[in-house]
Amino acid sequence: MVLMAGKLQVESGDGALLDVFSMIDFQPASGAGVMLRGVDGREMLDFYGGHAVALLGYGHPRLLEALQRQARELFFQSNLVPLAVRDRAARALCDFAGPGFDRVFFVNSGAEANENALRIALKATGRNTIVAVEGAFHGRTAAAAAVTWGSTAWNGFPSLPFAVRFVPFDDVDALSKAIDDDVAAVILEPVQGVAGARAMSPEFLSTARQSTRHHGSFLIFDEVQCGMGRTGSPFAVQAMDVTPDILTTAKGLAGGFPAGAVLVPQSVARGIHKGDLGSTFGGGPMACALVEAVIGAITDEGLLENVRRLSTRIYSECIVGPVTAVQGAGFLIGLRTSRPAVDVLRDLRSRGILAGGSADSNIVRLLPPLVLRDIHVDRLIHVLTEIPA
Ligand SMILES: Cc1ncc(COP(=O)(O)O)c(C=O)c1O
Repeated sequence: MVLMAGKLQVESGDGALLDVFSMIDFQPASGAGVMLRGVDGREMLDFYGGHAVALLGYGHPRLLEALQRQARELFFQSNLVPLAVRDRAARALCDFAGPGFDRVFFVNSGAEANENALRIALKATGRNTIVAVEGAFHGRTAAAAAVTWGSTAWNGFPSLPFAVRFVPFDDVDALSKAIDDDVAAVILEPVQGVAGARAMSPEFLSTARQSTRHHGSFLIFDEVQCGMGRTGSPFAVQAMDVTPDILTTAKGLAGGFPAGAVLVPQSVARGIHKGDLGSTFGGGPMACALVEAVIGAITDEGLLENVRRLSTRIYSECIVGPVTAVQGAGFLIGLRTSRPAVDVLRDLRSRGILAGGSADSNIVRLLPPLVLRDIHVDRLIHVLTEIPA
């Protein structure tokens, strides 16, 4: 397939790659800050951050410095050997996540983090049932896909690795009823991402916490998308004031280098022994150097405050043009549109703004880098007023 966009030809599916992704008509060549430049010279303000991964935007000096320094020092070593940079990254991540998180297991992706979180809960409880929430996206590996809503279309495995009970989004009664002594864990995204930036209510989250505690089940927060400062707090844990037994994160964790993590308190760590978990690349020195740099930048550059301030602006000032409402938390934003989101996304791109879709055909999803500035928000509002309502 060849997509035409002005002078640009985007090849998709004709080369050696499997044709599994629907691509847009923009091919980036380079990036600086929040701006991408296309191979055709077009500039695109990136309000999508590469699926929430480019947490510090492009070419952040602190990331580049960490990358170069670590590559020169030691590009890779495995978990067979201790590494100071791995210890520092784990400490920095626990400190960043705050009370209730004492130990880290590093992996490479969100799905792998969730796979291991579920494994920990199933093994520790000896139970066989997981409760998940409708609309959830937890990844494409076997266990992560089993708790992902609507995954039957692509799951591809002949059977699920455990029993799953889905409850409707934010339905407190259904959640209470679904949790009993058979349940190993409840897994949820405090702010659902792929579903269209839907924040769970404090009542739903506190019911999940109380009920799992009552029945001896684990509570797992999947903060793969909403974590690492995106809500304006280190994790939604703080923004929503509920502490799970296991926290998973990935995406922006290393600012674009593949990395994921499973965080647990000491009480859970005590039950995990040598050989229980493993990963070849997880906890590699390059990823760890970047995790350390990302957390340092968020802290030293006041980026949580930046997210809180600018997201307040976006939530109040972006209900213009085709946008009828704004939902989400911090920089995980859903713009509800009067027209199909695909049409609004195309109009935004034609005016130099890159945003994303979601499972909701009337939600435009924004996942901007945490280094966004007022001028970028001004530009978004201006462009939204220009395109048809
Ligand atoms: C909330 C959530 N969990 C897990 C995943 C899977 O992460 P990965 O694609 O890194 O495996 C995603 C990816 O979009 C996600 O949004």
